[in-house]
Amino acid sequence: MSAPGRFVTLEGGEGVGKSTQLKALAAALRARGLDVVETREPGGSPGAEAIRRLLLHDLDWTPEAEALLFAAARADHVARTIRPALEAGKWVVCDRFVDSSVAYQGGAGGLGFETIWRLHEAGSHGLKPDRTLLLKLPESEAARRADDRDTAGKDLIGGRGTDYHAAVVAAFDRLAAEEPDRYRTVDASGAPVEVTDLLVTALEDLLP
Ligand code: TYD
Repeated sequence: MSAPGRFVTLEGGEGVGKSTQLKALAAALRARGLDVVETREPGGSPGAEAIRRLLLHDLDWTPEAEALLFAAARADHVARTIRPALEAGKWVVCDRFVDSSVAYQGGAGGLGFETIWRLHEAGSHGLKPDRTLLLKLPESEAARRADDRDTAGKDLIGGRGTDYHAAVVAAFDRLAAEEPDRYRTVDASGAPVEVTDLLVTALEDLLP
């Protein structure tokens, strides 16, 4: 039997470099001979990508509806993309997952952590990553990088105020403290290759 698949997620506030690091991390894992699926949220399956457009570009939802839409997108993504890949023994690396819902909708959005975990249980049978890598930058540096990246304008959630985004960062810190076995916090302020090395090191105990 092949080695079991592993599920790794990258998390963090805006502008911490997750998307760049996701590609680099996937390449580093492939170089070790692993079969890697790269995916992202909201999105990662046709249905979830359709919900992504509704969430980020079309309308301004109530907090409850927003949380349900993220959970619905995730349910489809888990059933259609993530679980099949894990069952086939692949590694899945995902740009954001349920922890983003807990931090954004649950923490900053005010619905509370528990509500989001309940939605996740109902929608995705409570699937949790084997490892969640939390990328951290000083707040001023993250804001500068996010502004540089978003010259074409921010999406609806990225464009929320500094208080909202500070609450997101605080919620991620709380999550990392609550689940130290699953979480690793990684300093994202170095050169991209240095950050990728730190990410691989934070997976060392899971690697075959
Ligand atoms: P994206 O363009 O992927 O942004 P980023 O590069 O910051 O990851 O847009 C995702 C946005 O959606 C981002 O602002 C975070 C937010 N989001 C939530 O609010 N809840 C969630 O569950 C997820 C997955 C994302």
